[in-house]
Amino acid sequence: MANYEMRSNRPEDTYWIAEKLGKLLAPNDVILLEGDLGAGKTTFTKGLAAGLDIQRTVNSPTFTIIKEYQGRLPLYHMDVYRVKDSLEDLGLEEYFYNHGVSVVEWAHLIEGQLPSENLTVYLYYDGDTSRKLVLQPKGKRYEVLCEELWNENFSH
Ligand SMILES: Nc1ncnc2c1ncn2[C@@H]1O[C@H](COP(=O)(O)OP(=O)(O)OP(=O)(O)O)[C@@H](O)[C@H]1O
Ligand SMILES: [Mg+2]
Repeated sequence: MANYEMRSNRPEDTYWIAEKLGKLLAPNDVILLEGDLGAGKTTFTKGLAAGLDIQRTVNSPTFTIIKEYQGRLPLYHMDVYRVKDSLEDLGLEEYFYNHGVSVVEWAHLIEGQLPSENLTVYLYYDGDTSRKLVLQPKGKRYEVLCEELWNENFSH
């Protein structure tokens, strides 16, 4: 499966890419976000939310694992950075298969509890405000999604 690489030179670029992706999302889509502290996972989630027509401000769920927003589709924003035991059953299935869009920051920390088909987005530091984004689709649905995003916005 091909990966899709994009450059972001400032926070607004990351937001913009995610907003474009957000417009293409469908019920039960799962987006996993990986990247070091401050790489831009929450910034990406804010863009996704904009693409889903969510009006409320999206902030990291600091004291809970999950926050829910209403837009064109429900958005379930999960941040599992503080999960102590990766094997503890967090009961997330009820979100993944609930007709909304799920976004998981630090997803690899709960690897065994995630749908095997997903779009994983890696954000790599590449300078002060520069990031490399690598989109890795797992499964046919996510290959189609990446193709759509790419063809609409990045192939000129
Ligand atoms: N190209 C860029 N893309 C995204 N964020 C950027 C970029 N350049 C600078 N930044 C800054 O980096 C920070 C990213 O913070 P953000 O909360 O999105 O990261 P995070 O990966 O969610 O962090 P955490 O691991 O703490 O959850 C913001 O302060 C943002 O302004
Ligand atoms: Mg974050």
